[in-house]
Amino acid sequence: MGSGIAQVSAAAGFKVVVREVNQGALDKGLGRIKKFLDDGVAKGKVTEEQRATTLGNLRGVTEFADMKDCDLIIEAIIENIDDKAAAYTALEKAVGAHCIFVSNTSSLCITELASKTQRPDKFGGLHFFNPVPLMKLVEVVRGLSTSQETYDALMEFSVKIGKEPITAPDKPGFIVNRLLIPYLLDAIRCYERGLGTKEDIDKAMKLGLGYPMGPLTLLDFVGLDTTYYIANIMFDEFKDPMFAAPTLLKRMVLAGKNGRKSGEGFYKYS
Ligand code: 3HC
Repeated sequence: MGSGIAQVSAAAGFKVVVREVNQGALDKGLGRIKKFLDDGVAKGKVTEEQRATTLGNLRGVTEFADMKDCDLIIEAIIENIDDKAAAYTALEKAVGAHCIFVSNTSSLCITELASKTQRPDKFGGLHFFNPVPLMKLVEVVRGLSTSQETYDALMEFSVKIGKEPITAPDKPGFIVNRLLIPYLLDAIRCYERGLGTKEDIDKAMKLGLGYPMGPLTLLDFVGLDTTYYIANIMFDEFKDPMFAAPTLLKRMVLAGKNGRKSGEGFYKYS
């Protein structure tokens, strides 16, 4: 997610500082951006000039102190409140008072994350979708303490980077995952109960409804661990059985079958 957000921001002309935990992670993320741009040039979707401009606007660093001149910080750390809070504390020592903090969380409470900073009014959510350079939507999330000025700035930024923003409430899942997660969990339940083969369930939704991916392929794409994590947070908050993780999902995650990124989920990936 982080590399995709950095890429679209740089492509839109913003000077982007990408901070990663170490040089290895930085090289991996920047490598992903280069590959996407190279593929884009090969497909005729990206010009050589756009490629050069995007790469020229990106600077990779490993220290929070190197982010001192940033006006907007988009955090895309794993969904762990303590890790996020530790980063905010370090960042607040480095950046100016005007700097807006944003989390790309898909499920954590924006009001709670804002409360971990000294600038809750300058804190909001921007929820992007994978693959970020291709998916047009961004959910702009207002916490209880997000100021109107911050919300306006996030809407404006989203448009500037070529996205279509919508306003989402600070409730687990926002709008997209509130609808998507029950659908994905139900697809697993249907598969568990023998409604069809995984291929047929996917084909049904792809060809019958025109979805770009069937639900089990999409689960592998999003990550089974990620889906399990989001479902648990939503179940915790709403106590509604539609968010309860199916037994198969839990077992696949325990077995490390997390989808594409682990080489196997519902399908195998070489
Ligand atoms: N540079 C520029 N453009 C590129 C490109 C590149 N490197 N690679 C692909 N493209 C363009 C293609 O040219 C094509 O454009 P066109 O429509 O104008 O012809 C378009 O992007 C689609 O690319 P492909 O034809 O190569 O690929 P597919 O048609 O197989 O689409 C996909 C791939 C966009 C991933 C599609 O399968 C899809 O939309 N899947 C669903 C993804 C989804 O649902 N994401 C959200 C997940 S939920 C989430 O992220 C939230 C989290 O909280 C869980």
